[in-house]
Amino acid sequence: MRHIMVMNSKGGCGKSTLATNLAGLYASEGFETALVDYDPQRSSLDWLSLRPEEYAKITGIAGYEDGLRSVPRNADFVIIDAPARTHEKELNELVRRAETILVPVLPSPIDMRASQAFIDELLNVGKVARKQAKIGVVANRVREYTLIFEELDDNLQQLKVPYVGHLREAQNYIRAYQRGLSIFELPQYLAWPDWEQWEPLLEWLDSKRSQPS
Ligand SMILES: Nc1ncnc2c1ncn2[C@@H]1O[C@H](COP(=O)(O)OP(=O)(O)OP(=O)(O)O)[C@@H](O)[C@H]1O
Ligand SMILES: [Mg+2]
Repeated sequence: MRHIMVMNSKGGCGKSTLATNLAGLYASEGFETALVDYDPQRSSLDWLSLRPEEYAKITGIAGYEDGLRSVPRNADFVIIDAPARTHEKELNELVRRAETILVPVLPSPIDMRASQAFIDELLNVGKVARKQAKIGVVANRVREYTLIFEELDDNLQQLKVPYVGHLREAQNYIRAYQRGLSIFELPQYLAWPDWEQWEPLLEWLDSKRSQPS
C-alpha cells in the first residue's frame, strides 16, 4: 500500500488539485484507490461527490475525522490531501501517515518564500530527516516563458529536495474538478499537453527515488 501525501502549509497552491488528479489517475488505471481528505474544507471529498458513477471507483475518507482507520485493506494507493497551515505537532502527526510527500509551489514571491520555510520545517521532521519519507516539489499553475516562472524554476532547482515537475495553469484542471474527474479522464485532444507535463512527476512517483529504502 502506497501512501502519497500532498502538503504545503501555504493555502491555495494546488494540494487538492494534485490529490484529486492523482487519485483519478490511479483509479482509472485499475488500482484500488483511497482519497483521504485531512482538510475539513473537504475540497477533495466535494470533488469525489461530483464523480459520475460510470468512472473508476475511488473510496473517499474524511481523514480529519478519523484518520486512516477506514482505508480499505486492499488499497493500492492512498492519496492524502493535507490542510493548509500545518505546522509543528500537527505536521509531525501528518507526516507519520505517508512515505512520499508532494509539495506544490506557486510562482509568486509570497508563495516561494512561504514554501521555502515550509520545506525547511519539513526537512527537520524526524521521519523526513531519517529518510523514511521522501519529498518532491512540484511547480504549479506556471505560465511558461514568464520571468516569474524562470525565477521559481531557479529557486526550486536550488532546494535540497528533488524538483520533480511543473504543471501549467490550465482550464482543464477547473473543468475536471467541476465534473469529479481527473485531467487524465478528459478527452485526449483537450488534455494531452497536461498529460505530458505529468510524466516526469509520475516517473518519480513510480521510482525508488520517491520511496524510503
Ligand atoms: N494548474 C492549475 N491550473 C489552473 N487552476 C489551478 C491549477 N492548480 C490549482 N488551480 C486552482 O487554484 C485554486 C486552488 O487550488 P487548490 O484548491 O487545489 O489548492 P489547495 O492548496 O488545496 O488550497 P487550500 O490550501 O485552500 O486547501 C483552485 O481554484 C484550483 O482550481
Ligand atoms: Mg485544498
